[in-house]
Amino acid sequence: MKTIRFGIIGCGLMGREFASAAARWCHLPQMDIRPEIISVCDTNAELLAWYTNHFPAIKQVTDDYRLLLANPDIEAVYIAIPHNLHAEFYCAAIEAGKHLLGEKPFGIDQPANDRILQCILQHPQVFARCSSESPFFPAMQKIGGLIEKRAFGQIIEVHSGFLHSSDLDAQKPINWKRKIEYNGEYGCMGDLGMHACHMPFKAGWLPQNVSAQLCKIVPSRPDGKGGMAECRTWDNATLLCKTLDTATGQAFPMTIKTHRIAPGHKNTWYLEVYGSQSSARWSSKQANTLEILDYQPGAEQAWQVMDMGHEMAYKSITGGIFEVGFSDIILQMWAAFLYEMVHGQPIRKFAGCVTPEETAWSHRLFTAALASHEQQATMPV
Ligand SMILES: NC(=O)c1ccc[n+]([C@@H]2O[C@H](COP(=O)([O-])OP(=O)(O)OC[C@H]3O[C@@H](n4cnc5c(N)ncnc54)[C@H](O)[C@@H]3O)[C@@H](O)[C@H]2O)c1
Repeated sequence: MKTIRFGIIGCGLMGREFASAAARWCHLPQMDIRPEIISVCDTNAELLAWYTNHFPAIKQVTDDYRLLLANPDIEAVYIAIPHNLHAEFYCAAIEAGKHLLGEKPFGIDQPANDRILQCILQHPQVFARCSSESPFFPAMQKIGGLIEKRAFGQIIEVHSGFLHSSDLDAQKPINWKRKIEYNGEYGCMGDLGMHACHMPFKAGWLPQNVSAQLCKIVPSRPDGKGGMAECRTWDNATLLCKTLDTATGQAFPMTIKTHRIAPGHKNTWYLEVYGSQSSARWSSKQANTLEILDYQPGAEQAWQVMDMGHEMAYKSITGGIFEVGFSDIILQMWAAFLYEMVHGQPIRKFAGCVTPEETAWSHRLFTAALASHEQQATMPV
């Protein structure tokens, strides 16, 4: 078993998820590589005791990411910080020769993303990927397999999205994710969009143009200090894209929805693919349920409803009949990152993390979506 020594920069919500996944690596009996967290960095010192209490291998605790990157024992980093810091921190990590799993949107805007991609190009020895989990649900893996087999026939329409309602409560105080200077102009697209783009982009379904409707629903929120703060980020985005299936050269309509204010949704990822031969629908609301419709001319059109169980891309010790959850797919995503880092490619096409090029496509799409909304016109991507 090969060990990769990791540092975490940004020890909030997502930093803890990685650490917890690393702590149950024994769930993955066929992995020949494992992460070991030896260093943590956050400017909020209160967060760090949880790490040092649970991870005895941690030898370095710092509030200065440059000290972490200067540590020669660290081979790879996970960086989970606000979007305004992505370009600076990711480029510094790459220049320090550390393999990188960065968080989406992989740069606060297109120039920041360009800078990160340029840096990756200049350091080909560094393995860099972007975090996004939903394709690791077994139902999504199954849909990925159907895409690879071209089982859908001609693609008629695709709907992909990420809906939640964390901002439905207008009295919820504002945080960095709702402030343009930390989260960026993209608003909800920067926060949620990569998740909705991950499967389509991996499938080679690339938007050629976009018509965007962007909504600011809650104009101001409590600032947490007794006053009110203006909300300047987009709450909801609905994108309609003419999309090219690069495998066939045919175009089809695709919608990408990223809503922070979607009544009835806590954290819903979904993908619907409608094709001339087969169709498939999945939503994380019923994470273990996959619906498939195989079209036979002359026969009834009947949706089959399948229970997926625990059929993971990277084999897990959990019994095949048991249901899957967020912590399981985070673990799968980390397996994908480490597997590809060592073996040069993912175990199968749809079991890979988002590539830097795929993040660049998302930036092209979101930048065009901002222009589309501004000009009330369909814009090329
Ligand atoms: N993949 C996912 O499912 C998912 C989910 C949520 C967030 N994210 C992404 O993860 C990233 C972080 O989001 P989060 O929800 O963990 O946020 P968070 O606020 O919980 O954590 C961010 C951490 O960064 C720290 N930080 C800020 N400035 C720093 C600095 N200069 N040096 C070191 N640490 C610093 C903060 O103190 C905080 O602990 C964002 O890019 C976000 O879009 C991804």
